[in-house]
Amino acid sequence: MLNSYFETIKDTLNLNADAFALLYLACGVLFILGLKGLSHPRSARRGNALAMMAMGLAIVTTLLHPSVTDYTWILAGLVAGAVVGIPIALKIKMTSMPQLVAILNSFGGLAAALIGIGMHFALAGETAGDRTEIFMGAWIGLITFSGSIIAFSKLSGYMKSAAITFPMQHMFNLLVGFAMIATGVLYIQHGDVYMLYAFAAIAFTLGVLIIIPIGGADMPVVVSLLNSYSGWAAVATGFTLENTLLIMTGSIVGSSGAILTYVMCKAMNRSFFNVLLGGFGADDDAGAAMTATGGTVKQASADDAAFMMENANGVVIVPGYGMAVAQAQHALREVMDILEEKNIKARFAIHPVAGRMPGHMNVLLAEADVPYENVAEMDNINADFATTDVVLVVGANDVVNPDAKNVKSSPLYGMPILDAYKAKTVYVVKRSMNAGYAGVDNALFTMDNTSMIFGDAKEVAERLAAALKMS
Ligand code: TAP
Repeated sequence: MLNSYFETIKDTLNLNADAFALLYLACGVLFILGLKGLSHPRSARRGNALAMMAMGLAIVTTLLHPSVTDYTWILAGLVAGAVVGIPIALKIKMTSMPQLVAILNSFGGLAAALIGIGMHFALAGETAGDRTEIFMGAWIGLITFSGSIIAFSKLSGYMKSAAITFPMQHMFNLLVGFAMIATGVLYIQHGDVYMLYAFAAIAFTLGVLIIIPIGGADMPVVVSLLNSYSGWAAVATGFTLENTLLIMTGSIVGSSGAILTYVMCKAMNRSFFNVLLGGFGADDDAGAAMTATGGTVKQASADDAAFMMENANGVVIVPGYGMAVAQAQHALREVMDILEEKNIKARFAIHPVAGRMPGHMNVLLAEADVPYENVAEMDNINADFATTDVVLVVGANDVVNPDAKNVKSSPLYGMPILDAYKAKTVYVVKRSMNAGYAGVDNALFTMDNTSMIFGDAKEVAERLAAALKMS
């Protein structure tokens, strides 16, 4: 019934090979335009809409392809995916996005691996070229699958996020990698199914081995890298299935993921090649001892901060993960509006890895309708801190930690920071003296020009707005 329904549609449309090529090309163009749209918050919604259109068109075009003859399992997969995916997408908190991306990457990897292994049986006895494609899709897919499961478990707290290390780890991983390649080559040469199972099992193990030595603080970079891997796995699958669109979109995911990984590495001062090889975070937790020592903590109230702000020429607000947790962006926008009404220049300063995902702060500020002119990226605002009267740090910690510049033993050492500590007066809003993501103390909190305002970011921002309004 379902199959005959689709066959009737196919007969009616009667699309030839050129039509399919054109439709796939249209999908590719839409994906690229979508990605371009995502490069700026102003065009991000349009970019998302274009990418969704591209995906919709890609699915419909593929379903209409003459090589697809049985729709029952495809439809079952679509329904199962929608039933599981839609509620998750609706409920997911933005702060849990890295976990979601990690688990989605694992699905991408698993799909590529299963298609590869399935194609072995469909193409049994075919050429070494086919088997090379199967090998590529399966090993990249399985490393992505198991590595992403470990990343997901570490990010969601199912596993300790600390690095798991053992002696001669890199050497051992290298040997496992060679074993995978050796069994893969034997499979390509002889087409022996046991060699396929062997390299698949080794690839799965390698994914686990590569990700376990990575400490929690570096996990987002790894998620981005695994995202890139899932794209390359899709490329290999595209070659196996002779599907040009899969090759195109896989390349887009693979290369954009690699570029994002590179940008994040730069922002966190990590080596891209160490990430590629795995285990670059091995030392992080060893160094995660508290680095800033002693010092007196001064406390202030929202009223104190309001008073100083009113008498300031300029105010810079530095949002961080705590702003996202507290959903304080709307109250902070109100603070900004009131300051601007009083002719006090107010801007938000964004660190590239503030929060828990790339662009996290930009998205939240855009949601609160903060004008783009009032949002400055780190490189554009850092020189201004020294002449800024008041800086309000809201739920940010690691991204303003001066130890990243000064203390070589700090796990943050080398990461560029927002130079908030250089301002005349700094107020830090957070609930306690607890450490941030990297698990280290922050020297900023005990500096002479810093006062802490303890409390939930949203409540403090609302009190601040009220105090500014009253005056
Ligand atoms: P963090 O260093 O994680 O610090 C956030 C601070 O927010 C905490 O110290 C916490 O202190 C405070 N906080 C939590 N809930 C709060 C609330 N309701 N109200 C007020 N404060 C609250 O954040 P950051 O400065 O944004 O730095 C980001 C870190 O995450 C970096 O280490 C970065 O490498 C890492 N990372 C980044 C990404 C990307 S791509 N953005 C992804 C994953 C990880 P209290 O508990 O005392 O309140």
